[in-house]
Amino acid sequence: MALEQEGVQLSEAQIAVHWKEEEYYFPPAKFIAQANMADPSVFERFSEQNFPECFREYAELLTWDKYWHTTLDSSKPPFWRWFVGGKLNACYNCVDRHLQKYRNKAAFIWVPEPEEEDTKVITYQELYIRVNEFAALLQDVCGLKAGDRITLHMPMVPELPVAMLACARLGVIHSVVFGGFSGQACGERMVDSGSHILVTIDAYSRNGELLDHKLKADQAVEYVEKNGVKVDKVLVWRRYPGKYSSPTPMVDGRDVFVDELLKNYRGASVAPVSMPAEAPLFLMYTSGTTARPKGCQHSTGGYLSYVAGTSKYYQDIHPEDTYWCFADIGWITGHSYIVYGPLALAATSVMYEGVPLYPDPGRPWRIAERLNVNIFHTAPTTIRMLRKAGPDEPSKYNYHFKHMTTVGEPIEPEVWRWYYHVVGKGEAVIVDTWWQTENGGFLGSTLPALHPMKPGSCGPGVLGVYPVIYDELGNEIPKGSGRAGNICIRNPWPGIMQTVWGQPERFVQIYYAKYCRNPQSTDWRDWPYFAGDGAVQAADGYFRILGRVDDVINVAGHRLGTKELESAALTVEEVAEAAAVPVMDELRGRAVEMYIALKPGYSPSQEIEDKVRGAIETIIGKIARPKNVWIVPDMPKTRSGKIMRRVVAGISNFMSPGDITTLANPEIVETIRTQVQAAKLSRGELPRQLSPQELEEIGRYGQVG
Ligand code: WT7
Repeated sequence: MALEQEGVQLSEAQIAVHWKEEEYYFPPAKFIAQANMADPSVFERFSEQNFPECFREYAELLTWDKYWHTTLDSSKPPFWRWFVGGKLNACYNCVDRHLQKYRNKAAFIWVPEPEEEDTKVITYQELYIRVNEFAALLQDVCGLKAGDRITLHMPMVPELPVAMLACARLGVIHSVVFGGFSGQACGERMVDSGSHILVTIDAYSRNGELLDHKLKADQAVEYVEKNGVKVDKVLVWRRYPGKYSSPTPMVDGRDVFVDELLKNYRGASVAPVSMPAEAPLFLMYTSGTTARPKGCQHSTGGYLSYVAGTSKYYQDIHPEDTYWCFADIGWITGHSYIVYGPLALAATSVMYEGVPLYPDPGRPWRIAERLNVNIFHTAPTTIRMLRKAGPDEPSKYNYHFKHMTTVGEPIEPEVWRWYYHVVGKGEAVIVDTWWQTENGGFLGSTLPALHPMKPGSCGPGVLGVYPVIYDELGNEIPKGSGRAGNICIRNPWPGIMQTVWGQPERFVQIYYAKYCRNPQSTDWRDWPYFAGDGAVQAADGYFRILGRVDDVINVAGHRLGTKELESAALTVEEVAEAAAVPVMDELRGRAVEMYIALKPGYSPSQEIEDKVRGAIETIIGKIARPKNVWIVPDMPKTRSGKIMRRVVAGISNFMSPGDITTLANPEIVETIRTQVQAAKLSRGELPRQLSPQELEEIGRYGQVG
């Protein structure tokens, strides 16, 4: 077939990545005039000579009960300790301390998905009351105290940040599970974190439908109890207080309605617990190379300082701004840049319950117009969706952004330009912020008043963060060489996770083992952080992020581990082997395709395909549903029996499967190719020209097993 493209077989470091250098865009004078940080001396303050003390500038944005004595303790690398000796409370910093000046200012503005429902404004005063009442309830009904873990499985409703802040007030460690994850995925995370309390809601609106969410709580509890852990209480908020909107019955003695219980705590107040800077604030689970998700543990003092500082300088948040981060609080973006960062700065943070296109692609712009949003923050996936469905919608609405952010995936320069010209009306600066769940806050970005923007590049390392690109052998790849490699961070920073909950050895192994120069060393310079992304650095120092190097698939900004997907497929009785691979997708960046080989005695059927889809949906959630499930006669395998993901990934993307001479069964490749590509063509899934980066990414998917 003429559809094939040349496969890429080189290691990362050898690959020359060619693309057109994009032109610069400069920040408007009007933006610079009002920016929080427009003074270039900041670069000197955050230069390497001033590390780690430079980060005092961020920590000083907070109110400390006790000042720290050591800014960075690196005596047990890579378990960095920031602001040691300091004490503070995160809830106090996000709520109480703003009351004097901003009591009646909106902390959150919540926009329900149904457009006929009223927007709700929650002032700092009301937030203070609600957080205190819920904290009293957690203490009293659940017996929670500092250091305990609790799981919150909730959608985008204000009750979620209320619950998070109540936990922070008590020093209770929250673990928020994205609402779109399945009950079982929630249950797994509860078991891992040792939570005995689940906070949930009966229902929420998504795409015009009121979804039953309580059902997932029952499934989560069932999973937890099967694994020998007892769930003490399920706290159920109601989307419409006083009215239960789920068909799933409440369980006597275990499930309670929060709105009813709260009546007993009217006006209750709970003193914020003064926590050590290094006390964990929350866990956030993310995917990696193994099936078991990793609980990224984030600290109180370091994390909060870092998100406050980056929100101020990079998001340019002032208390008088109306800031809308259109992401989900169930991901790190929402924790850092809907809740903790903006609230630490006394901003007004907008929360929207629903999907971008409901009921039509003008919705986000109506929200922006009506609420006078002036800072807008979202992911390339959302931008691509809005651009496709309503390319001219933004111009119909009278809103003006001064600042916009893109986060979570690489953004195509074409899409960036639409964002800039059409969404931003040419008036707004854009920051493309590169970072990860593990990092707490931004790692790579332009500083909006001081650096020009360049479409498709995140920019240089942020203040106090010094990235470097290494080849596989640990040699530095110089900027401007046009060669890609593994992007690493040479130094620790206050937002870095403290450890993988319950698995400190994995923390060391995943992020530090690869490039550690000397495991005995207590000098941070010997411990570069391995981010797991491929990148290139242009001559001007700007980084372009190419995507994951660790068999993780980024679907619409959500990280899905190939191992997790494969383990889920293997729970289907008929399935003998499974391989998950990415396929390029116009809207979602990447989609998942599953290759399945059956146990002897079974033959392919639609029913088995559906079972695989169902298993993935049950175990992980709808976001992970594969685009295609291919049941093939056999998998391409190495002589040692390992499935070669890159071979099937090549087939799914209409590129050459690459070198197959080392396979034990090379003849199977042509069989699979004919089967899959013929089916794709008949489904209208046509091949498209892949960019050098995309070819390189596909060629990099490793072996199963
Ligand atoms: C992975 C982290 C950080 C919040 C959302 C995702 C990719 C993230 C960018 C960007 C290109 C990006 C990386 C990274 N990524 N931001 N601006 N440009 N790629 O958090 O789920 O932990 O995923 O998302 O591959 O490793 P996450």
